[in-house]
Amino acid sequence: MHRPGHALGQDFYRREDVFEIEVNRIFLKSWILAGHQSQVPEVGDFFVFEIAGESIIIVRSDTSHINALLNVCRHRGSRVCLEEQGHTARFVCPYHAWNYDLNGALQAAPQIMDTLDTGKYPLRRVRLENFHGLLFINFDVRAEFGPIAADLGKVLAPYDLPRTRLAHRESYRICSNWKLAVENYCECYHCVPAHREFAVGHGRARPEPKVEALKQEVLSRAQSCGLSAELSNRGWNKAEAVGMDRYVDRYPLLKGHVSGSRDGKPVAPLLGSVKGFDGGATEFQVGPISYGLVYCDYVVLYRFTPVRVNETNCEVIWLVRESAVAGKDYDLQELIWMWDVTTRADKKIIEDNRRGVDSRFFEPGPFTPMEYYTQAFTEWYLGIMSQCEEGQ
Ligand code: FES
Ligand SMILES: [Fe+2]
Repeated sequence: MHRPGHALGQDFYRREDVFEIEVNRIFLKSWILAGHQSQVPEVGDFFVFEIAGESIIIVRSDTSHINALLNVCRHRGSRVCLEEQGHTARFVCPYHAWNYDLNGALQAAPQIMDTLDTGKYPLRRVRLENFHGLLFINFDVRAEFGPIAADLGKVLAPYDLPRTRLAHRESYRICSNWKLAVENYCECYHCVPAHREFAVGHGRARPEPKVEALKQEVLSRAQSCGLSAELSNRGWNKAEAVGMDRYVDRYPLLKGHVSGSRDGKPVAPLLGSVKGFDGGATEFQVGPISYGLVYCDYVVLYRFTPVRVNETNCEVIWLVRESAVAGKDYDLQELIWMWDVTTRADKKIIEDNRRGVDSRFFEPGPFTPMEYYTQAFTEWYLGIMSQCEEGQ
């Protein structure tokens, strides 16, 4: 039995049948960040994105269009694409060589082309929204993206994310259920004890009332720096439908810090039309497992992908201005330092959390004020899980 205001019970993190319900009710209906358009700059460039046993090919089919295709052959179901990323003119299934074009249309099927109605066997499509260069997918063909774009578009526009490019990408395998990773991401109560490097320069690590005045100063500087101060919050239970959860918020950086770096100094050229460092950072969420943090000079994208009940892949993507050259305009090691060190620390505390939650003696304790957004997540989650079977 769940105690209001307390963490979730052990079963939610361990049971296979709970995980299956989550896949049906949450992940097959949610907007999920697959990557950034700069990962597929040329026609024929592709990468494969995996979640909860599903595999999706993200491929550029022409200069203005990117597809998301289910990586399941329409013949007898083999994975069609076995590479993680690459460039191709077509996808040829390795099993019996059925050929699909970059839009997923079946082009050739050895020995039966005369009799097969090829139009009936395209690779299945997954929804894809290219939002400011960020590629979001959704398995649900009816899912809406418009309200998300309306809420986040203005704040993101000055950073000109379509004209950024991937500087680095890293996958961190976390041996825990995906919810322990999301719960950790949604609170910064742990930031002072666990992230010394982050806490020294980021207002997010302090209780909000203590940095409210600083936040207002940052918001008042927004205009002169070419940034927007229009914030919104439709996270956990405030969205129109499951999987549309989002917010965009700004918080102050501390003590002369203007970016997320070792010494708080800039690490890359200013993004988009940003005119100067305003001493703040912009963070946003789209759907339950995709998050972003935008400094004036670089972007970090975060995604916590459930692999199986007790395994999660945390993928982090670093974006810089498209024209920035590694080694000249930025030093890659300095660029990634803050969020590599912080994510490694998160992986450790999440896995240590999992070990304790696995104990026969674990009993969920109370949330504190700085964990309000994690608490809201658990309430959202329990609401979904308590729906009747029909809702699946
Ligand atoms: S399963 Fe793909 S061609 Fe047979
Ligand atoms: Fe953390």
